[in-house]
Amino acid sequence: MPDGRIDLPLLTTNHPLGRQAVTCEYRCGNACSHDAPNTSGNAYFGDVVRSIVSRRGMLKAGAVLAVAGAGAAALGGAAAADDDSAEQAENGDRHRRPRGMDFKPVAPNTADQVTVPEGYVQSVVIGWGDAVLPGAPAFKFDEQSAAAQAKQFGFNNDFCGLVPLWRDQYLMVSNHEYSTESFMFKGYDSAKPTEEQVKIGWAAHGMSVVVVERDRRTGKITPKLDRRYNRRITATSTFDVDGPAAGSDFLKTKADPTGRKVLGTLNNCAGGVTPWGTVLSGEENFNQYFANGKDVTDPATKARLARYGLASGPSGRKWERFDDRFDVVKEPNEVNRFGWIVEVDPLEPGENPVKHTALGRFKHEGANIHVARDGRVVAYMGDDERFDYIYKFVSKERMRPGNSRYARAHNKKLLSEGTLYVAQFTGDSPDFTPGVLPADGAYDGVGKWIPLAAGDKSFVDGFTAEEVYVFTRLAADKVGATKMDRPEDVEANPRTGLVYAALTNNTDRGKPGKEGPTEINPRGLNRHGHVLEWEEAGGDNTALTFSWRLLLVCGDPNASDTYFGGYDKTQVSPISCPDNLAFDRHGNLWISTDGNQLGSNDGLFATATSGPERGHLKQFLTVSTGAETCGPVIEDKFVLVSVQHPGELDDASADNPLAHWPDGGNSQPRSAVVAVWKPGHRIGS
Ligand code: FEO
Ligand code: CA
Ligand code: CA
Repeated sequence: MPDGRIDLPLLTTNHPLGRQAVTCEYRCGNACSHDAPNTSGNAYFGDVVRSIVSRRGMLKAGAVLAVAGAGAAALGGAAAADDDSAEQAENGDRHRRPRGMDFKPVAPNTADQVTVPEGYVQSVVIGWGDAVLPGAPAFKFDEQSAAAQAKQFGFNNDFCGLVPLWRDQYLMVSNHEYSTESFMFKGYDSAKPTEEQVKIGWAAHGMSVVVVERDRRTGKITPKLDRRYNRRITATSTFDVDGPAAGSDFLKTKADPTGRKVLGTLNNCAGGVTPWGTVLSGEENFNQYFANGKDVTDPATKARLARYGLASGPSGRKWERFDDRFDVVKEPNEVNRFGWIVEVDPLEPGENPVKHTALGRFKHEGANIHVARDGRVVAYMGDDERFDYIYKFVSKERMRPGNSRYARAHNKKLLSEGTLYVAQFTGDSPDFTPGVLPADGAYDGVGKWIPLAAGDKSFVDGFTAEEVYVFTRLAADKVGATKMDRPEDVEANPRTGLVYAALTNNTDRGKPGKEGPTEINPRGLNRHGHVLEWEEAGGDNTALTFSWRLLLVCGDPNASDTYFGGYDKTQVSPISCPDNLAFDRHGNLWISTDGNQLGSNDGLFATATSGPERGHLKQFLTVSTGAETCGPVIEDKFVLVSVQHPGELDDASADNPLAHWPDGGNSQPRSAVVAVWKPGHRIGS
């Protein structure tokens, strides 16, 4: 078998969208079984060739711009490039494998374990129920309490970020996206949750900050019960509202007549580490936590709620029975206080985390910062819904270098004021045929950033600036944004400034009454997703125009409608449903998946983005049965991944666990952070 080619076992899955039905129910409130909430008529404008930006200079192989990227190498690794070179020379393939990609791919599989490449080892760093705060009781599945959960690692960890602390210690920040009560409580009755079960759910959401330490000799990462920095943020923690919509009437509630203090963060999906050492986190499927969203009578409010997917009747978890704020009829503005990018400073445990209104309100997957040439910062963001949009925010002020108290205080205000844009993409192949590589050899074209608002100024007819920020989806509908196939992570490559977006899937594309395939979303009933790449005009990430092309059209490499950057498809790993993106220090793109449609467990993949190995996608690991791979932190020969919702199978529950990772035996599955590394590799030396 040629190197990297993997036989593809086509197994069956229980759910037409790849995920188990139970995951859809608890994670996103069955978003995919409802109509996509974007019913706007902002038509796709046609794949017209428009010379918006010069295509010259697009995708220069190995181009390196002097830019500071977000999430700069936390775990050192200065010696890694040399290590790679040495190993490749030994293997006789110095010129075949790009640096940072020297591993033998793992095969697709359905094992109830994390499967890593030969020569790598793994360990669980921390999982659901493990102690975060001093005094946390030992986790006992059958005796869980809200008080215990508030001191323990939350449920279903998604994004994971590392912020250097000192020596070999780091602040590890994790999102806890959602709770799956039927896997948390034996005998759980979804029609009648108890108050304690609901309060455990509140405490299981949010985020965790945990000091972790790396053993220089073994490479192993272990959590510390640190009194100063360890922290739990939950669905009831106090957040400050920041930016131009802070104090808006749309954000005022009975409990908070100022519109500036919110309790909690919900459904935190992906995120990013900022260059100033804070963590951004996206509030994603927040709509599912609110009851009676279709039962309001005011037509304007009704339309706004519908665009955000609010449903009628009780919420899935019935939280409204124990706190009126989750009932939209009783407290119509509480829902407007979710759907934001939040910023947490793990180095300042006494500070409230912040909700940034300048970055707009939608189902935020996450946000990733790139520092533009002039020092302004650009936040790239996706709205994870079928037919929703890609956004960017450009700060008004420039980043100050260094991490003095003065510089950090300044940089922590960068996301408070700037300009919010939405993307419009245009293909350049008028003869485009769905699922067929265009005659010019690329799915490609140009695009522009349409301004929505800057500070107190709105650029959208009929919308005040405040309305743009709080009801961003409706404002973007009006200006002709391009309807995408569920934009997940959007992130710039710190070495090149080129930007990448994971479009995870869209099984509604081309259905009757829905927009059909276009060059940028090239397949109807898109089950496997694709990965988009663009270069901002002149290499300036604040530019208003760009040129784009698809890097990957995912799926079975044997299928004619897949594309791997033009690379030989017999040599690549199959991939389905790209979700989170990360870059290693060499500029390779790492991709985690959510909802593999090819019968394998989800996994983590990597490809070079330039040079002859561009598109040579290799699978680095697979996660355990029923789990999703997320939150990757990528360093040289060291990876942290979140194994989210392991064992979440439709026929399973706490009463009948059908998978047992990570504790084995007859244990209940637990979501956890896993470290994977190559022993003996000189990390941080
Ligand atoms: Fe929580 Fe967009 O996945
Ligand atoms: Ca084309
Ligand atoms: Ca995800």
